[in-house]
Amino acid sequence: MSLGRSPNDHRSAAGKRARNDSGNKVTVVLGAQWGDEGKGKVVDLLATESDVVCRCQGGNNAGHTVVVDEKEYDFHLLPSGIISTKCTSFIGNGVVIHLPGLFEEIDKNEKKGLKGWDKRLIISDRAHIVFDFHQALDGLLEVQRQAQEGQTIGTTKKGIGPTYACKASRTGLRICDLMADFSEFSTRVKNLVQQYQSMYPALKVDVESELKKLKDYAERIRPLVRDGVYFMYEAIHGSPKRILVEGANAALLDIDFGTYPFVTSSNCTVGGVCTGLGIPPSNIGDVYGVSKAYTTRVGIGAFPTEQLNAVGELLQTRGHEVGVTTGRKRRCGWLDLVILNYAHMINGFTAIALTKLDILDVLEEIKVGVAYKINGKRVPYFPANMEVLQKVEVEYETLPGWKTDTSAARKWSDLPPKAQNYIRFVENHIGVPIKWVGVGKSRECMIQMF
Ligand code: GDP
Ligand code: IMO
Ligand code: MG
Repeated sequence: MSLGRSPNDHRSAAGKRARNDSGNKVTVVLGAQWGDEGKGKVVDLLATESDVVCRCQGGNNAGHTVVVDEKEYDFHLLPSGIISTKCTSFIGNGVVIHLPGLFEEIDKNEKKGLKGWDKRLIISDRAHIVFDFHQALDGLLEVQRQAQEGQTIGTTKKGIGPTYACKASRTGLRICDLMADFSEFSTRVKNLVQQYQSMYPALKVDVESELKKLKDYAERIRPLVRDGVYFMYEAIHGSPKRILVEGANAALLDIDFGTYPFVTSSNCTVGGVCTGLGIPPSNIGDVYGVSKAYTTRVGIGAFPTEQLNAVGELLQTRGHEVGVTTGRKRRCGWLDLVILNYAHMINGFTAIALTKLDILDVLEEIKVGVAYKINGKRVPYFPANMEVLQKVEVEYETLPGWKTDTSAARKWSDLPPKAQNYIRFVENHIGVPIKWVGVGKSRECMIQMF
């Protein structure tokens, strides 16, 4: 078929684009610790000035809190930009989608006043589907780990690991399969269930009822489903647009770079943005890392600066450190600059958002982990092996506390000098500018530094 152009025309058009039009850049927000750093809040802040907000990885293991006009929303699969009426929200191919979970989340947020979401939500046809039996298997594997190894991973039991495993083993089903012939889809689901039950005889699956529900969900999402690669291509190369990417989970939970095996199953670092949306690395613009002014972790695994004492308890209670997705208490400890440096090595942060500074307001002195030592010697890298990481000795610097309420501070000069000193110390140590400092839950409690 003729396109009415010679191949040379085509080549010169492509050449022109490469030279003159690399397209819009995307701004990325990523967790720099073990999750729950306040990504939702940072995304909400930037979403008010964005045209598109994208999720590129993870699933409803994420729990992102946004507080607007004293109303608190928690988002799991929906991009936090969904409350911004001017913004299109996009769920990319790298995300794993549990459709009952998605609709439960939508219903809950509609009750809180969310309107018109169906005009603003786009779902990639290449995203993989999380089935109820993936979630059941997630639970079963945790029971098995406890029985065999005496400990679990402490997953959210949202089926994330089993779904990504299915994807990697090429037996997964995607949104595009659900949009196509339903009887073919049903056969593939039944085959998958059979495969699972032969491997895990204890796994109980009501496949017929799950398929019945999925048939209904298929029609509800059909108007929202697009070719995700083309959607992103148009967003990047169409009219000037501000595109934001909302990372889920965090660097230390990344499947490659996190504290393996106590991690999630996706790339929560910057590479996951390209593979999870189908965009070139040259279109990545600013990469903002989000970190609390201290450290928390949900679930099992090494945590060198953890404080199993009164300090840890104070951070937990003052910070209301309870998981948004599972309601579990978060483990708490001092800020760890080794992990922030490590996250920066991987992500190349342009700037940092330092949240929850206000939680430190009452402390006499504040410690910051600045280096790890093994056998008395400083190590310049972040240890890969968990047994080694469990044993590192943390070298701390102690800074004076400011013992002043910072929650009403709205600009740099409102902060007490000792709090300013703490922020500068962190900034100098990571070598990345701190662009925002959080002193409370709501939108206006974010001090912008530049
Ligand atoms: P995410 O998963 O990274 O989006 O973070 P979560 O929403 O799971 O957890 C962050 C928690 O800290 C939420 O309850 C936020 O409302 C709260 N939060 C965020 N920033 C601040 C801040 O600067 N100060 C205080 N006090 N709370 C904050
Ligand atoms: P947000 O986006 C905190 C943790 C779980 C568990 C491990 C594996 O809100 O920051 P999974 O269910 O993913 O297989 O669990 O990862 N985890 C998180 N912890 N915040 C998150 O997301 C998390 N997502 C996963 O607690 O230890
Ligand atoms: Mg969270």
